[in-house]
Amino acid sequence: MTAIRSRPIKYIRGTLQVPGDKSMSHRAIMLAGLADGSSRITGFLPSEDCLCTLRAFQALGAKITRVDATTLDIEGNGGNCRQVLEPIDCGNSGTAMRLLAGILIAQPFTSRLVGDASLSSRPMKRIIEPLGLMGGVILSENNNGRAPLIIHGDRIRPASYVSPVASAQVKSAMMLAAMFAEGATTITEPQRSRDHTERMFRHYHVPVRVEGLTVTVHGRCLPHPGDFFVPGDISSAAFWMGAAAAKEDSHLILENVGLNPTRTGIISVLLRMGAQIKECIKGGNNGEPYGTIEIQGAKLHGTKIGGAEIPTLIDEIPLIAAIGAVAQGETLIADAKELRVKETDRIAVMAKCLRAFGTEVEEREDGMVILGGNNLRGATVDSHGDHRIAMACAILGLFATGHTTIKNCECVATSYPGFQRHLQAVLDGKLRLNTNRTKNRLTFEPEQTSVRSVPTTSITP
Ligand code: S3P
Repeated sequence: MTAIRSRPIKYIRGTLQVPGDKSMSHRAIMLAGLADGSSRITGFLPSEDCLCTLRAFQALGAKITRVDATTLDIEGNGGNCRQVLEPIDCGNSGTAMRLLAGILIAQPFTSRLVGDASLSSRPMKRIIEPLGLMGGVILSENNNGRAPLIIHGDRIRPASYVSPVASAQVKSAMMLAAMFAEGATTITEPQRSRDHTERMFRHYHVPVRVEGLTVTVHGRCLPHPGDFFVPGDISSAAFWMGAAAAKEDSHLILENVGLNPTRTGIISVLLRMGAQIKECIKGGNNGEPYGTIEIQGAKLHGTKIGGAEIPTLIDEIPLIAAIGAVAQGETLIADAKELRVKETDRIAVMAKCLRAFGTEVEEREDGMVILGGNNLRGATVDSHGDHRIAMACAILGLFATGHTTIKNCECVATSYPGFQRHLQAVLDGKLRLNTNRTKNRLTFEPEQTSVRSVPTTSITP
C-alpha cells in the first residue's frame, strides 16, 4: 500500500498550478456528453473519480477522445443514451454516482450503479427520494438506502423538492433529471451549495433560474455543445494555501485556480485566522471565475467556522482542522455533520489523526474543537482510504518535528494525481520560482491582506 512521507520545512516559496477542478470535470463530461455535437474540454482532471464518469459516458454512447491527459474531445450522444448492460462502476465517487443517477432515471432502460466499499456505505436515500418524485424507480439493491443502485428509468415529470441537506450532488441529480422532464422543476436547499451545475447549464444553454435558495430548471431541453475550460481545483490548492499561510517566511503563488464564490470559503477562513492572502480573478467567460491566489506566511490564530459557510468549504475541513492544530488558540468547527458521511467519517478520522500528532481535540457530533499551537510531533497515521485526510496529514507533517508517514494513500489519485510530486517539490524547496519575485512581493501590501479583487462583469453571478 502506498504511503506518503512528510517532514518539517522552513517555508514554501514559488509558484504552483494544481490539477483541474473535480466537480467541474464530472459535469463537463456529462453536459458535453449529452449534447448533440462536439465540445472540447481543456484542463480536465484525469483523476480516478472523473475517469469513472468518463468511462460511464463512453458506455452511454458519447464518443470521447483523450487528446492529451487534460484535453478531451467529446462528441455527445444528443441525449440518446445507450443502455449499459454491465454495472456502471462509480469507484469512490459520490458525485459520479449521484449525478449519473439523475441522468439514468430519465432513460428508457434499467441501469445498475456500483461503487467501492466507501461509496457503498454512503447515504443514497437523499437522491432516491427526490428522484422518485419525478417518476422512474430507483432502488437500493440491499434495501439499506445505499449502493448498489438499480435504476428503472422512465418518462419523467417535473417536481418541486425542498431538500433537507445543502448538497450540490442532490441538487445536481435533480437538475440533470429535470432536463428530460416537460415543465419546471424546482429544488430548494437550506443553504447554498456549490453552483457549478447552474453555471454550466447556462454555458450549455439549458434554461435555469436561481432565486434565493431555489433553482428552477425548464425541461425538455438538452445541452448545446460548447467548449469548456476547467480551472484548477480550489480544494486541491487549499492544501498549499493553508500550509503557506501558516508557515512564516513563505511566499506562494497559485495560478489558474477556480474562484467560484460558492467554493472560496477556505480563503475567508484563513483570512480570519490572520493569513495574508490575495486573490485576483483573471478570467471566467464560461461562467466559472478563476485566477491567482497569492499567499504570504504569517502567524495564525484559531477561529470559528459554521452555519452557511460550511457548504462553501465542506471538502476543506480536514485541511482547516490541520491548520487549526498549527494556529494559536482554539478553532471551533460546527454545523458540519455532513462530514460524517463523506469518503470516511471525517470528524472521527481527522480527530484521531490530530491526536496522533499530539493535538488536543474534542470531537462533537457536528464538528470538533481543536486546541492549536502546541508542538506537533511527527506521527504514523492511516488515511482510512480518504484522499483529503491523507493530504491534510501530509500538510501537518510539514509543521511537526521528526518524520510523518501516512499509510494507505492510493486514494490521493481520486482527486489530486500528482500530489506526491508537488509535496516532494515543496519538501525539496524546488517549486518553480515566482517569475518576477520583486514584483510579486511588492504587489502584496500587508495592509491590503483581505483585498479580494472584484470579479469582471462578464461573470454571471
Ligand atoms: C460535490 C459536492 C460536495 C462535495 C463533493 C463534490 C459535487 O458534496 O463534498 O466532493 O461535485 O457536487 P455534497 O454536495 O454532497 O455536499
